[in-house]
Amino acid sequence: MPEFSPVFREQLQDLFRWRRDVRHFRRDPLPEPVLDDLLRTACLAPSVGLSEPWRFVRVDDPRRRAAVRADFARCNASALSDRAGADAQRYARLKLAGLDDAPHHVAVLSHPEPAQGRGLGRGTMPQTTTWSTVMAIHTFWLAATAAGIGVGWVSIIDPERVMAVLDMDPVLELVAYLCVGYPAQPASTPELERRGWERRAPERREWIRR
Ligand SMILES: Cc1cc2nc3c(=O)[nH]c(=O)nc-3n(C[C@H](O)[C@H](O)[C@H](O)COP(=O)(O)O)c2cc1C
Repeated sequence: MPEFSPVFREQLQDLFRWRRDVRHFRRDPLPEPVLDDLLRTACLAPSVGLSEPWRFVRVDDPRRRAAVRADFARCNASALSDRAGADAQRYARLKLAGLDDAPHHVAVLSHPEPAQGRGLGRGTMPQTTTWSTVMAIHTFWLAATAAGIGVGWVSIIDPERVMAVLDMDPVLELVAYLCVGYPAQPASTPELERRGWERRAPERREWIRR
């Protein structure tokens, strides 16, 4: 095992601090095979029973991408209509996806009952396959950030409709729809914080119980 120096550990902390959900992208694509390499790195994530239940789908077809954008617009309008008054006005000002500009879209799916792993660890907690896939997404997100590449997670979509748009096997579960590309601007704080929607909570001792 390599020895990780104090300098590296400090830089790793910077990576955690500077990882952002990106919604403003430059339009130029990543050089090949950068995206595939990052997705391979994502597969180094831990998984229940070593089941590796994640599946990554690069969505390049303009018609499919347009259909996902339309679904986001529909879901976002519906989320807005559930709010009223000043809350609705504040919501309407948020930018909640970079689907128009991001040069790459990646759907992340999870197999709920993969043969790999032979069921180990899932008997009492079947959700662990989904959680494993989320670990892969986070690994991807950090690796992308380290390479100066932005990732934006879009969850304001209807999973069933998007699965149909992507023509996916319905046994799979849609976990995330990711926008990927070079960020228009680096940012040290979450966009929701910069737009006055929410703030990171102050460090709370009670989050760690002894
Ligand atoms: C499961 C999940 C779903 C998310 N869905 C969305 C989304 O639909 N639209 C969006 O703009 N951001 C979405 N985000 C990003 C969060 O808003 C963001 O992570 C949070 O505000 C903290 O900002 P940061 O990631 O830049 O630190 C999502 C993040 C997670 C983990």
